[in-house]
Amino acid sequence: MLILGIETSCDETGVALYDTRDGLLADALHSQVELHARYGGVVPELASRDHVRRVLPLTSTVLQQARRRIEDVDLIAFTQGPGLGGALLVGASIATGIGLALGRPVVGIHHLEGHLLSPLLAEPRPGFPFVALLVSGGHTQLMRVDGVGRYTLLGETQDDAAGEAFDKTATLLGLGYPGGPALAALAEAGDSKRFEFPRPMLASGDLHFSFSGLKTSVLTRVRALGDLDDGTRADLAASFQRAIVEVLVAKCRAALEREGLQSLVVAGGVGANALLRASLADALDSTGARAYFPPMRLCTDNGAMIAFAAALKYPEGFPGETSFPVFPRWDLAEAAAQSAPRR
Ligand code: KG4
Ligand code: ZN
Repeated sequence: MLILGIETSCDETGVALYDTRDGLLADALHSQVELHARYGGVVPELASRDHVRRVLPLTSTVLQQARRRIEDVDLIAFTQGPGLGGALLVGASIATGIGLALGRPVVGIHHLEGHLLSPLLAEPRPGFPFVALLVSGGHTQLMRVDGVGRYTLLGETQDDAAGEAFDKTATLLGLGYPGGPALAALAEAGDSKRFEFPRPMLASGDLHFSFSGLKTSVLTRVRALGDLDDGTRADLAASFQRAIVEVLVAKCRAALEREGLQSLVVAGGVGANALLRASLADALDSTGARAYFPPMRLCTDNGAMIAFAAALKYPEGFPGETSFPVFPRWDLAEAAAQSAPRR
């Protein structure tokens, strides 16, 4: 079965073709970084309009790369939420249009489920059950995953998401959008021991997170320091990054221990962070557990994870009705427990 995956939930247009027999055939992405850069963040209306321009050309690209025709597509999968309402509607409309034109089923996929399952696209593939750390711009969650569609929320952020904390701290340090990768790059040259920032909720005894206090602590320090030279900015970035990574690593270890599991899957944009990857691998090494990451380019938003999630969820094809509405706010554990979201 050939699946066309379309991702348009935020600032990346992703289109991919996944074959249930031959695997990922093609995967194309257009990033809107340049479009939004001068505004310092994503402008939803501009995002929607750009998705409109990109989805069909990217679809032609993946079909060419895979040497397939649009008529060969058996199922169309699109990101149904969570995300920006207008941006989601672009993917939903185009997917539904293609489905109607071809007479093929169309299925909506939960964006976080795409991220969550994306490490299974790489080898070695973790077996179920595992603990998943979802760290994106909008979410920071620990989940127990017992199988496809069987997700239990173990803990989540009480305020800012990890990616959001990276982005906001990057803005404080005068770095542009998107902040996470820029902050990580700046941190490489910095001394992570120069500034002592809090490790929020490290001793909370549960698996929840909180990152807004950490961000405020950086803000207070930046104000006290006044004019920042390049070295100090790098030291602030490195110290912040170490604090946030230490919290993420400690909570992952605690989750594995609590659940009695040996496999940790890391997904979402912050999963591209090199320090997080290295620290998790290090920390788990001595415990006999193992961390699994999606390939670097599939950490951030992409169409491959949407097509792949559809392949895992509906290996025999999608039997249901196309559900056109999009859900800008949509809880994954709730989505797993019922077929349609509560409004
Ligand atoms: O999953 P994603 O592409 O989009 C959402 O669904 O949110 O995640 C984007 C987030 C942004 O906050 C971005 O700054 C962060 O992931 N990010 C990083 C890195 N690459 C992306 N954060 C830290 N280090 C990175 N290398
Ligand atoms: Zn995402």
